[in-house]
Amino acid sequence: MQPSIVRTHTADLYDAHVLKNYARAALTLVRGRGSLVWDDQGRQFLDFTSGIAVNALGHCHPHWVAAIQRQAGELIHTSNLFRTNNQGELARRLVGYAGPGRVFFCNSGAEANEALLKLARLHGMRKSGGEEGKCYQVICAKNAFHGRTFGGMSATPQEKIQKGFRPMTPGFAFAELNNLASFEALIDAGTAAIFVETIQGEGGVNPCSTEFLLGLRRLCDQHDLLLMLDEVQCGIGRTGSFYAFEHAGVRPDAIGMAKGLGGGFPIGAMWVGERAADLFHPGSHGTTFGGTPLACAAALAVLDVIERERLMEKVRFNSARWHADLKQLVADFPAQVLGMRGQGYLVGLQLAADPLPYVVALREAGLLAPPAGGNVIRLLPPLTATVAELDQCVEIVRGVLSARA
Ligand SMILES: Cc1ncc(COP(=O)(O)O)c(C=O)c1O
Repeated sequence: MQPSIVRTHTADLYDAHVLKNYARAALTLVRGRGSLVWDDQGRQFLDFTSGIAVNALGHCHPHWVAAIQRQAGELIHTSNLFRTNNQGELARRLVGYAGPGRVFFCNSGAEANEALLKLARLHGMRKSGGEEGKCYQVICAKNAFHGRTFGGMSATPQEKIQKGFRPMTPGFAFAELNNLASFEALIDAGTAAIFVETIQGEGGVNPCSTEFLLGLRRLCDQHDLLLMLDEVQCGIGRTGSFYAFEHAGVRPDAIGMAKGLGGGFPIGAMWVGERAADLFHPGSHGTTFGGTPLACAAALAVLDVIERERLMEKVRFNSARWHADLKQLVADFPAQVLGMRGQGYLVGLQLAADPLPYVVALREAGLLAPPAGGNVIRLLPPLTATVAELDQCVEIVRGVLSARA
C-alpha cells in the first residue's frame, strides 16, 4: 500500500469513527526506536513528547520488548483473585524506592490518584473515630492536574477540565502552590489530607520548592493529615531521582505514580507508607486489570534498564548542560522565551505567547514537544536520550525561535 493512501485512510477513519475529545496533530505515527519516531510519510522526528512523559526508555528498548514478549507467551492476566510473581516482585522493588509500606496496582494516573483520594477518606474516617462524612477534605493546589475521573477532576481546579461536568465531588479546597500559609489557612477539623504534584506538569512545569514541601510535611504531622504526592508525571527517574520529592528530602505518606512506570505499557500504582497502609482491607478497593503479570513485567523491565544503564545518573549529568543551553535561549530570545523551569528531563519553556504555533513549527522542524498550561512548551526526552539528541533539540528550538525573531 502507498504511504499516502495509508495516511488518508487513517485520517478518514478518525474523522468518521473516533470520539472527538482530543485536539490531535495531523500526523500518523507508525514506528519508533529510541528517541525517534517516524510517520506514515517516512518523516523522522525527535520525540521529546515521549507519550507525555511515558516512554521512559524511548521506543522499543530491546530489554523491555523482550520482557513483554516473554511474558505474553507465559501468563498475561489472572485477575487479582490470585497472586502472581511479577506483581509481588514489582511491589518489592517500588517499596525499595519509596520506603516501608505497601503498593496497590492499577492502570493509569487518574486511577492511582483515585486510590489516594479514597485513602484520604479512610484516614479521615479513622481520625473521626470511625464516623463517615466528618473529616474528608483534601487540600490541593491551584493550577493542579490530577486526572479526568470525578475524583481527579474535582482535585483539578481548572475551568477547561471541569466545564460541563459539574457538580464536582465535594471535599476539595485549593491553595496557592509554594504558599504554605495559604495551605495552613484552609486546615480545619474536617481536613484529611494535602495532595499536590511535586512538579506540576500539565499546569506549566511548576515545581514545589523544598521549603514548601518540608512545610507541608510539618503541617501534616501537626494536624494528623496525610501528605499525598502526585508523581504521575514527574516520577520514575524523570528528574534524575526515582521520585521528584527525593530532591527535597521529604517523605510523603502516599504516592501516586503511572506514566513512566510501564514505559508505554499501561500501569499505575499507589504506594502507601506504613502509617496508613492498613486502611484498606479486602473488598475496600480494587480493579480487574490492576497489576497484571504482563503490565508488571513491562514495569520490571523499565526498572531493570533504569538501574543497569544508570539512567538517573545520566539524567542528572546530561541535564546540567542541556539546561544551561536552554537558558541561553532565554537570554538570546528574551521577547519570545521568558524563562526555563523544571528538573532533569522535565522541562518547561515559558513563552511570551500561545505555545501552539511553536509546537507546530517545532514539529515541522522535526521535534515533537507538547504544550502545557500558561504558555509553556514542555520538553520530555526519554531517560535514554543522548547528549547528541539533547543538543539537537536545542538547535531545533533555536532555529524556530530565530525564524520568528
Ligand atoms: C500529574 C498527573 N496526575 C495525573 C494524571 C492523569 O494520568 P492518566 O492520564 O494516566 O489518567 C496526569 C496525566 O497527565 C498527570 O500529569
